[in-house]
Amino acid sequence: MLENKRPESMARITTKELADKFIAEQLDALRAQIGDKKVLLALSGGVDSSVVAALLIKAIGKQLVCVHVNHGLLRQGEPEQVVRVFRNELDANLIYVDAVDRFLERLVDVTDPEAKRKIIGAEFIAVFAEEAKKLDGIEFLAQGTIYPDILESGGVKSHHNVGGLPQELNFELVEPVRLLFKDEVRVVGKALGLPDEMVFRQPFPGPGLGVRCLGAITRDRLEALRHSDAILREEFAKAGLEGKVWQYFTVVPDFKSTGVKNDVRSFEWPAIIRAVNTVDAMTATIEEIPYAVLHKITDRITKEVPGINRVLYDLTPKPSGTIEWE
Ligand code: XMP
Repeated sequence: MLENKRPESMARITTKELADKFIAEQLDALRAQIGDKKVLLALSGGVDSSVVAALLIKAIGKQLVCVHVNHGLLRQGEPEQVVRVFRNELDANLIYVDAVDRFLERLVDVTDPEAKRKIIGAEFIAVFAEEAKKLDGIEFLAQGTIYPDILESGGVKSHHNVGGLPQELNFELVEPVRLLFKDEVRVVGKALGLPDEMVFRQPFPGPGLGVRCLGAITRDRLEALRHSDAILREEFAKAGLEGKVWQYFTVVPDFKSTGVKNDVRSFEWPAIIRAVNTVDAMTATIEEIPYAVLHKITDRITKEVPGINRVLYDLTPKPSGTIEWE
């Protein structure tokens, strides 16, 4: 049974030295727990699963099997980054599953936000379980459970994230960062040599772009969303806003408005910019993004993204709006 209570004597991991000490202890503990057995991990590319993967690669190398499910709702460049960092740079045993068509087909005409979430979560578990069944000799399942997950939900990572433990896969759990807070996981990730864009990335919901492509998801509107989000992130980074704004993204609703592009009338979707700051995501305030940055983003999105002819800026704090639109 894994210890699920953080000892009062446990120092907060704030420095590379403390992270190195934690890593050394974990490597011993992981090797003792796992021996020569195999471990399976759903690797989303998020901070927590990436840090768990990096720890396990160091501890047991190819005994770890990572499964990355591309459900088509990831941000631009994310699946490629997972493959580059873990397969190419860290030489991990990585199974990349292209499940894009499968997810998008299941989501056709589904408009209800909770129904969309449920389908994405259930399909993720189905894909992961199918991959697991193809593998022989797996005895452990690694998870990126962190301490707030334990405090908030009794240790079940799946309540908000897709990718929780598939009930039918009865493996012993390996949860090396379960007593750490998010900021500590980042310090450990940095000490393990993971790239900053992976370690310091903003929170991203489990159902991904699925809850930002409002209403029934279509492939063309999903691409417009992914493209506009990439432009927004690029311009925020250039303006030095990365790390200053807690969460920022675009939303593409399922209605159109009239516009004019290259002297021709257009009838296209708007992209909505959301940029918020918060401490715990329970309430959130609006970031005052400099107008010059907003103008640049508007100019680029309307010129570069097919299907978008307007850009709107959401000024609503939480409450009354939630951070996500769905
Ligand atoms: P809301 O929209 O409720 O979001 O103000 C608060 C924080 O939670 C994230 N979020 C989710 N994360 N699965 C997740 O893993 C979800 O279904 C989900 N819905 C919202 C949101 O991005 C924000 O950081």
